[in-house]
Amino acid sequence: MLGNFTYSNPTKLYFGKNALDFLPEELKKYGKNVMLCYGGGSIKKNGIYDQVISLLQAGGKTVFEDGGVMPNPTIEKLYEGCNIARENKVDFILAVGGGSVCDYAKAVSVSAYCSDDPWGKYYLRMEDVENEIIPVGCVLTMVGTGSEMNSGAVITNHAQKLKIGHVFGENVFPKFAVLNPVFTYTLPRDQMVAGIYDIFNHICEQYFSGEDDNTSDYIAEGLMKSLVHSSRIALRNPTDYEARSNIMWTATWALNTLIAKGKSTDWMVHMIGQSVGAYTNATHGMTLSAVSMAYYRHICPYGLSKFVRFATHVWNVETANKTDEQIATDGLSAMERWMRELGLVMNLSALGVHEDMLNGIASGTLMMNGGYKTLTKREILDILRESL
Ligand code: NZQ
Ligand code: ZN
Repeated sequence: MLGNFTYSNPTKLYFGKNALDFLPEELKKYGKNVMLCYGGGSIKKNGIYDQVISLLQAGGKTVFEDGGVMPNPTIEKLYEGCNIARENKVDFILAVGGGSVCDYAKAVSVSAYCSDDPWGKYYLRMEDVENEIIPVGCVLTMVGTGSEMNSGAVITNHAQKLKIGHVFGENVFPKFAVLNPVFTYTLPRDQMVAGIYDIFNHICEQYFSGEDDNTSDYIAEGLMKSLVHSSRIALRNPTDYEARSNIMWTATWALNTLIAKGKSTDWMVHMIGQSVGAYTNATHGMTLSAVSMAYYRHICPYGLSKFVRFATHVWNVETANKTDEQIATDGLSAMERWMRELGLVMNLSALGVHEDMLNGIASGTLMMNGGYKTLTKREILDILRESL
């Protein structure tokens, strides 16, 4: 294991078909004024809104609604939410939705009382929170991001063509998260598979780095195997509870800080994907799937032994009479076959990216240096061209 670290995750999880029953108990801990954040209306169609509202009313809460949180929440929406939170002196923010709604709720929680401009302070300058933070709780309806048990909040600034995530401190993690796999049954198939690939890629981002023998990597392999297995079942039968519950649990553990402990991490697929998102507003998971194969084939020679391990441990690739390069290549091919099986978007053109956007996308990509190769802008451009 690499270096020293502290591990703490303050989010309390309620998991299973009856998970929402615990909401009243949790809400009792906070004041009367509750801001209810949700997306474009799916929770009204599938009945989750009615269930949540009746629990809030039964608990004597005054509810301030903030609906219309869009996928890939924008800075303009964030400013709107801050006003609602401040004007109504909200004591608690309840996010009911996917990663976008959870991220947005966390962004409002740190920004409502920020005397500075939150975009400049938290997203461009990456500064810490110095003001009051409104506590947040989540009722998750879309699986993928891990936002329900982490302190990340990704915001898009279309005017500046930038999509940036800030990972805040322990005081910004949701206080609790309600995880009922049945709530995810109404997700359209493309969102379900985008979420599945988002989970897989979160694990890859933390797995493809470092040379040491690390427990976190063994956990990562277990999560990947479970995800691939359950994804195939969910694809055939989206209401298979066992598969959907496994996927939900895997998503949470894929990005709640556990598997990054004691090792370096990469995150370059996400950095490229976020920049693609800033230009296209495409579904997050699909921005990752579109660039992944070109990225991993590009870095494979620099982390060959890990790619060999990935091929054998995760994809059961036969090794007899093969060179390491062949084994690694076969592992990536197995991954690509699975991605195509899911029906993921495998190229950038399908997301509306044109050749003339590539330079801007490469310039908007934040460069990380924890992976097997610190990329240059030229290499990012090559990967983008390869992904077109
Ligand atoms: O808006 P509504 O009508 O609710 O519809 C949503 C939305 O259109 C729909 N949906 C959600 N639950 C549903 C449902 N439709 C039917 N039935 C349900 N039960 O799904 C669509 C997508 O939702 P969204 O919340 O945007 O998806 P996701 O969970 O993938 O979140 C994406 C955002 O999270 C950020 C992404 O960048 C993106 O902005 N991320 C956050 C991370 C974090 N906090 O750590 C890490 C991730 O890598 C990611 O960057
Ligand atoms: Zn992601």
